[in-house]
Amino acid sequence: MLHHGSQQLPQAPWITTAAASTMDRSFPTPITLGNNRTIMGQAMFTGHKDIGFKGLVCPKQSGLGASTGTCTSDFLRSDNPTMRGKVVLCFGYLPYGASEIIKAAGGVGLIIANSPTYYISPCDDLPCVEVDYDVGAQLLSYIRSSRKPMVKLSPSKTLVGKPLSVKIARFSSRGPRCLSPEILKPDVAAPGVNVLAAMSPKNKDAYDGFALESGTSMACPHVAGIVALLKSLHPSWSPAAIRSALTTTASTTDTSGEPIFTIGDAQKLAGPFDFGGGIVNPNRASDPGLIYDMGVTDYVHYLCSIGYINSAISKLTLHPSVCPSKKPSILNLNLPSITVPNLRSSVTITRTVTNVGPIDSTYVISVEHPLGVKVAVRPQMLVFNSTVKKLSFTITLSSSHKTIGGYYIGSLSWSDGIHKVTIPISVRTEIIPSYTDRF
Ligand SMILES: *[C@@H]1O[C@H](CO)[C@@H](O)[C@H](O)[C@H]1NC(C)=O
Repeated sequence: MLHHGSQQLPQAPWITTAAASTMDRSFPTPITLGNNRTIMGQAMFTGHKDIGFKGLVCPKQSGLGASTGTCTSDFLRSDNPTMRGKVVLCFGYLPYGASEIIKAAGGVGLIIANSPTYYISPCDDLPCVEVDYDVGAQLLSYIRSSRKPMVKLSPSKTLVGKPLSVKIARFSSRGPRCLSPEILKPDVAAPGVNVLAAMSPKNKDAYDGFALESGTSMACPHVAGIVALLKSLHPSWSPAAIRSALTTTASTTDTSGEPIFTIGDAQKLAGPFDFGGGIVNPNRASDPGLIYDMGVTDYVHYLCSIGYINSAISKLTLHPSVCPSKKPSILNLNLPSITVPNLRSSVTITRTVTNVGPIDSTYVISVEHPLGVKVAVRPQMLVFNSTVKKLSFTITLSSSHKTIGGYYIGSLSWSDGIHKVTIPISVRTEIIPSYTDRF
């Protein structure tokens, strides 16, 4: 019945997806080495007294490779004498119950080198500090170059505010989704790294019923909470309207105006495939000015555009649904984003915006062009009044054929001087090989 295999469904455009970002908060924990150098890790290590200088060990692996410094279950045995009285440095993910085993083996501390932190746990009574791979490598080279490596772990401090840059977490999924690359994913980003979360007081990984947790599972509740607030402020808004309000008002810089980076194989500036419209801004989302709305007809046209037949769509909508005789273009789905995965020479896309701000409003366009792509918007001004609530415009994207490979990013903003309604543009140009190119 379905056009696509049931395992690999195309992206449902009615779902809002959240990426996970860090936030302007950290828990720096000083790690002082025997050579008196201090480097910073992160921990929730508060109630402990200073343990003083202790020996530092790391599991030895022959050679250098992906497994260097990994605390395998072979190493993590309570009868392994090398951990006695020492702080243990482990790279990568730890087997379950690692901190208890280290304690049972007489270990006095744990440093986990991992990037980025999924979870900062107090590790019961064992001081445990998380560092990124880079700091882990510095610690490892100190161990290897020192005859008697020593380390001191000091209690954590809390830092809030400007000095910390906001990044999209490594574990946060990236777009595009290959089965429906025209639908930008993710939609927005929200804090999802080291989020102070309530847990069962019985949970041994928690500290008096609280722990710092990371994941898109932490970012999603932030977005769901904002959605609930928006729905209570604007009960008539559709899910698409709410997603539009979130996306078009999201921030592409952090609170101090610095760009947002992404933690991946290489650190680079974040773009729409990392954070959608950007990091959610609940206050701005409550008053977006214009929304890119969608309803059942839009979703039916989407299903038509990806090849679902009338009978299949009717089963979903629970009433007879008929596709238009001319197959709709997926690019015209009224998303608060424009994503063109295969621009050849030029394409014209339509969007419709609904005024949810002051009744008499005039919006003008501004465009940031993706590299090598000309963006022409018609009309350049939208005038709303008591009878005109919705207006459509066209966006014509033309390729200069000067760029190859990868997506180029731009944006399109409507502004009335108070509201700024911005959607991201991502375009990949397709080069049609000419005869001479083949040789
Ligand atoms: C709203 O604008 C439209 C188009 O410019 C115009 O035809 C209409 O008369 C206006 N309505 C009011 C109430 O001003």
